Amino acid sequence: MKLADIQTPAAIIDVSRMNRNIERMQRRMDALGVRFRPHVKTSKCLAVIDAQRGAGARGITVSTLKEAEHCFAHGVLDILYAVGMAPTKLARAADLRRRGCELKLVTDTAASAHAMAEFGRQHVQSLDVLIEIDTDGHRSGIGPDDPQLLKVARVLHEGGMNLCGVMTHAGSSYGCHTPEALRTVAERERALCVLAAERIRDSGLPCPTVSVGSTPTALAADHLDGVTEVRAGVYVFFDLCMLNVGVCAMEDLALSVLSTVIGHQAENGWAIIDGGWMALSRDRSTQQQIVDFGYGQICSRDGVVIPDYFVGSVNQEHGIVSRAGIPDADIVHRFPVGTQLRVLPNHACATGAQFSEYQALNDSGTISTWSRINGW
Ligand SMILES: Cc1ncc(COP(=O)(O)O)c(C=O)c1O
Repeated sequence: MKLADIQTPAAIIDVSRMNRNIERMQRRMDALGVRFRPHVKTSKCLAVIDAQRGAGARGITVSTLKEAEHCFAHGVLDILYAVGMAPTKLARAADLRRRGCELKLVTDTAASAHAMAEFGRQHVQSLDVLIEIDTDGHRSGIGPDDPQLLKVARVLHEGGMNLCGVMTHAGSSYGCHTPEALRTVAERERALCVLAAERIRDSGLPCPTVSVGSTPTALAADHLDGVTEVRAGVYVFFDLCMLNVGVCAMEDLALSVLSTVIGHQAENGWAIIDGGWMALSRDRSTQQQIVDFGYGQICSRDGVVIPDYFVGSVNQEHGIVSRAGIPDADIVHRFPVGTQLRVLPNHACATGAQFSEYQALNDSGTISTWSRINGW
């Protein structure tokens, strides 16, 4: 199969770029002396996870129990489910553990810690649990100085749970675009997570794991003293948002959406493609950044960037391609009906999620179909 034979829209992985991204992150983690536990929510794809593990990753991070179930069935034992635990999911998590999965759970509330302890008592089962720490006000977690931290730690420990450590995700790093700002967020993520671990240890409780990570902070940290492991996800494909943050080049973007020109509005300088928001996603994360790429950057079928051409707007199955600045009066001839174009996405995780499978393109031009683990 060649690109020209693929039904569009299709999610294309440039395998050599992906492998380069995997190598780069793994080398950096090795140099920083930490264990690397990639977040597989970006690809949700066993072939990609195999490549990450083959390069040296130890353990994985997941965003759904479904990812955990599929990865465990594929032979991955060490899995961190990095979303706060809903009590209604405990039976499913416990089932994975009973079958030999070293599943680790996360909490940041006393209520959820109590629910875990109660579940453990009823089912005579100890669960491995990390406490989520808030290091940047981005989302969830307990502040490292918050008295709640030791309360939750005690509820878990005294309730018979295995208190494995602390974890944090400095999602505010997506708003940075200078190396100095990135280094500052990375250092705060490290220092505050280590501080939380020290407070737990000083209170006499165990806290072996200190887990931090986002792609920008993983690539910006000067050192990771006190950290035992890093989690990063989107680095595997990178995207336009990461380009704006400044942690990759356009040539590193490994995921694109192949689409076909289906018509024009010549007077507006528009080409219409069969890639709308159902394919590209509604993610507009570059809108708040230094360069707004609309719904994606246009490339030729071979992946060569066509500067200044973006998907400016989308309907469900239509994308409108236009040139920034002066409309292109020649767009009908530039991109005739039937032309295949590739669109680089704002946010690889969101765009990948629109598809049930990827088309993995090798340097030799061969294409394999890799399926995704969608749903919950
Ligand atoms: C808990 C957690 N850890 C790690 C990551 C990885 O971040 P990134 O995709 O920036 O590498 C995420 C991403 O959302 C996350 O939610």
